Amino acid sequence: MFPLRVAGLRFAPEGRPVLDGLDLELDGEGISLLLGPNGAGKTVLLRLLAGLLPGDGGSIDWAGAARPAGRLAMVFQQPMLLRLSVQTNVEFALRPQALSASARRQRTEEVLARVGLAHRASDSARLLSGGERQRLALARAWAVRPNLLLLDEPTASLDPSATEAVERIIREIRTEGTRVLMTSHNLGQAMRLADDILFLADGRIQEHAAAARFFAHPQSPAAKAFLQGELPWRMTFAR
Ligand SMILES: Nc1ncnc2c1ncn2[C@@H]1O[C@H](COP(=O)(O)OP(=O)(O)OP(=O)(O)O)[C@@H](O)[C@H]1O
Ligand SMILES: [Mg+2]
Repeated sequence: MFPLRVAGLRFAPEGRPVLDGLDLELDGEGISLLLGPNGAGKTVLLRLLAGLLPGDGGSIDWAGAARPAGRLAMVFQQPMLLRLSVQTNVEFALRPQALSASARRQRTEEVLARVGLAHRASDSARLLSGGERQRLALARAWAVRPNLLLLDEPTASLDPSATEAVERIIREIRTEGTRVLMTSHNLGQAMRLADDILFLADGRIQEHAAAARFFAHPQSPAAKAFLQGELPWRMTFAR
């Protein structure tokens, strides 16, 4: 399914452009961090890539195909969990895969252990804390062994130790060969996790660079301003 090539992507509900001619190219490895001010369209872009939202123009090409040949999983900022047990939440995600009941059970146990929730397997997902919910959502996504994992602010509202735990899980997921594209407003996290940075503002990817280079020498005026904290909210740039 890689390289992923996005060209001229447009999302303009009621004629008001959110994404306007967005270009992007991703190869098959590593963790890419999508940065940008509130309202820039980061969540919209992830949803478009996941096929959850129709675009208003442009193209999304997965290695020459209109749909990804591999598995794609997305974790939302507010994970939608079933009001069932922790374990059932993971097993449910595995339903579309041709696995025997015992294989499904085994994989569920494995991912829950890896996110530190094995001891909560039979608890209702409703009872989990915010950090535990995020870890369950990651376990559920990880269980399907996706080729591409889209994460929308996976550590927003988590405390430092829960954030650290989630970052460790994301690194492990990457190490297992899953391509990760995620958003975050935590620049420290971006520096810790990212191989490369995609900076989104004014409807387009303004800059795509290796993380070290992006933070040391941002090239675009918008990224420079963002890093200096001048862009906490959506701003429109004169073209
Ligand atoms: N389905 C939709 N229909 C119409 N407008 C939408 C839709 N989804 C998002 N928008 C609008 O698109 C813009 C970008 O939203 P988006 O959620 O992608 O921002 P974001 O970059 O993720 O911001 P944040 O950092 O606050 O999460 C917003 O103005 C939002 O209201
Ligand atoms: Mg968002």
